[in-house]
Amino acid sequence: MEFDQRADRLPFHGPEEEAGADATLPSHDARIRHLQRVPLFSGFNEDELRRVAELSRIVELPAGTLVTQMGEPGDSFFILIDGTVEVRTPVGAGSELHPGDFFGEMSLLDGEPRSATIVATTDLRLLIVDRTHFWRLLDETPDLVGRILTILSRRVRRLEQTVHAILRNTNPT
Ligand code: CMP
Repeated sequence: MEFDQRADRLPFHGPEEEAGADATLPSHDARIRHLQRVPLFSGFNEDELRRVAELSRIVELPAGTLVTQMGEPGDSFFILIDGTVEVRTPVGAGSELHPGDFFGEMSLLDGEPRSATIVATTDLRLLIVDRTHFWRLLDETPDLVGRILTILSRRVRRLEQTVHAILRNTNPT
């Protein structure tokens, strides 16, 4: 069952928002502790992690949530802190993303609609960065840019290998 709750459409809670204002949100310290577990931020010092925390929010979503919908506009970048999601692309369902993986960067980078539907296969804890803060984060943390580019290259290679394998099966020589 999929919940009619899109993370893309959740109201934005400003980065200044603290647990004091809403007991369901993690405190600043709790957010930093979650960020310390994300490999994308490994080696980041306290100040850098604090900056990431200031530019993002952490949300918890139930299994079945439609996080992004292919073809719809998207304004958020997501990093999985806990849980898994399934990625459904135009070439089919398949790849799973796990804690430490990110998604939602493509629509922010090129302004095009979401390239894939992403559904929570378990309860999730997600770090969410909105469009404006995404660019600020990239500006301020060049290490993060390098790490994101490396992973994007890997995804392109994997996709090319998948397409190659499909073509070989449909055109055996
Ligand atoms: P975006 O297009 O903004 O929203 C859907 C996201 O799914 C996309 O960004 C990527 O982060 C992710 N995505 C798309 N295709 C793949 C893929 N082949 N493997 C892993 N993630 C993908």
